[in-house]
Amino acid sequence: MSNTLPPAKKVFIKTYGCQMNVYDSERMEELLVGQGYAATAHPDNADLIIMNTCHIREKAAEKVYSELGRFRSLKARRERSGLDTRIAVAGCVAQAEGMELAKREKAIDLVFGPQTYHRLPQLLRQREETGKAVVETEFPAEDKFEGLAGDQPRKPVNKTVAAFLTVQEGCDKFCSFCVVPYTRGAEFSRPVRQIIDEAEGMVRNGVREITLLGQNVNAYHGDDGTGASSLALLIDRLSDITGLERIRYMTSHPRNMSDDLIEAHGSNDKLMPYLHLPVQAGSNRVLKAMNRGHTAKDYVQLIERVRAARPDIAISGDFIVGFPGETDQDFEDTLHIVREVRYASAFSFKYSPRAGTPAAELGTQVPDDVKADRLLRLQALLLSQLAAFNQACIGRSLPVLIEKPGRRAGQVIGRSPYLQSVHFVTDQHRIGDIVKVNVEGTEPNSLSGALP
Ligand code: 5AD
Ligand code: SF4
Repeated sequence: MSNTLPPAKKVFIKTYGCQMNVYDSERMEELLVGQGYAATAHPDNADLIIMNTCHIREKAAEKVYSELGRFRSLKARRERSGLDTRIAVAGCVAQAEGMELAKREKAIDLVFGPQTYHRLPQLLRQREETGKAVVETEFPAEDKFEGLAGDQPRKPVNKTVAAFLTVQEGCDKFCSFCVVPYTRGAEFSRPVRQIIDEAEGMVRNGVREITLLGQNVNAYHGDDGTGASSLALLIDRLSDITGLERIRYMTSHPRNMSDDLIEAHGSNDKLMPYLHLPVQAGSNRVLKAMNRGHTAKDYVQLIERVRAARPDIAISGDFIVGFPGETDQDFEDTLHIVREVRYASAFSFKYSPRAGTPAAELGTQVPDDVKADRLLRLQALLLSQLAAFNQACIGRSLPVLIEKPGRRAGQVIGRSPYLQSVHFVTDQHRIGDIVKVNVEGTEPNSLSGALP
């Protein structure tokens, strides 16, 4: 090897939003490393800064704009030292804003949506050749996942023993508040073979737990060679992989919670007892206005069926308060369904109008102070349920997948089957081991335990 090679260019990727973006960022890093880039954790010494953005709620987009200002100054500072910096905005804000972004922020060199990141090397070349900002927000027909595999053997950048794998993307549900069908496009499922190959590669790299990702992951219907498959069939196939110990999936829609998937929770030992199944609201009137396609009762009955298959399953949800037209009574209905279901974990948000979605046009927007008040009340209830779920684990022996070292000497941090973070002390076990731990205490966001 020659020692006159130029130093590797550095790329800094900042990820906002959901796990799909985390997965996409890892794949972008992998792609760029294959092109000779080195990843850096510091934007200051990066030749390429990628912001992988989220557009789902107001705060997410606001953060992107304020961070862009910071990167603009950094670019100017580096330029004074004779260093070039390219700034790329990727992900859902890029998809939604497109050309507007490049017009508004002159420091931007590249804008590309979630469906085009496999073309990143090409787009970067185009930027250098034209000297102008490049905006690419088409939904190409080609498969970005195929594009990623390329001709090179994959060098996955999964850094942990628990990793994400995107199996499905996009959404055809068109909930009236949501930008996803516009930013991520129509529903698309990857073929079974491609997913198995990727999962096997991950397991060879030390991954023990895989979370299958998709905006509507339980609508998965990828081709398995004989026609359309299902998420339950895919999980079944994946659980044949030796060395893969745990399988999870998120996010699901109540309307796609099929019988075979519910059954899998009772019969497949590798499928973890955790289900993220957003209901968003508890009022039938609001659910209808949200275009969710089910009632509160449908949801509660569904949870009962899931619990019949797997009684200890941890249920997780998403909630929106202050959807246009939401009355005090509607909000009480949300509190009611929360009490009925008893959640082990939850995410709750104030409704935030997204341009281009039907709900944003409604003239019945709820004042912010009302939303804030409702959110506080809902979160207090959800927190008490989370605490109760954790408390109920005290005295139990749970298998914990060790993920990383803890803060104190000898301490390790891992996850229970219910996705709780568990810390305990051991000198006999390593990252990647699954160890039975006696749960002794709870903290707000974790459990503490000890070896038997
Ligand atoms: N306002 C508030 N919350 C939203 N979500 C999606 N769109 C909006 C919006 N416009 C929430 C939903 C969804 C989660 C990922 O984000 O609860 O399940
Ligand atoms: Fe958005 Fe509804 Fe699709 Fe979920 S199901 S991604 S909330 S449109």
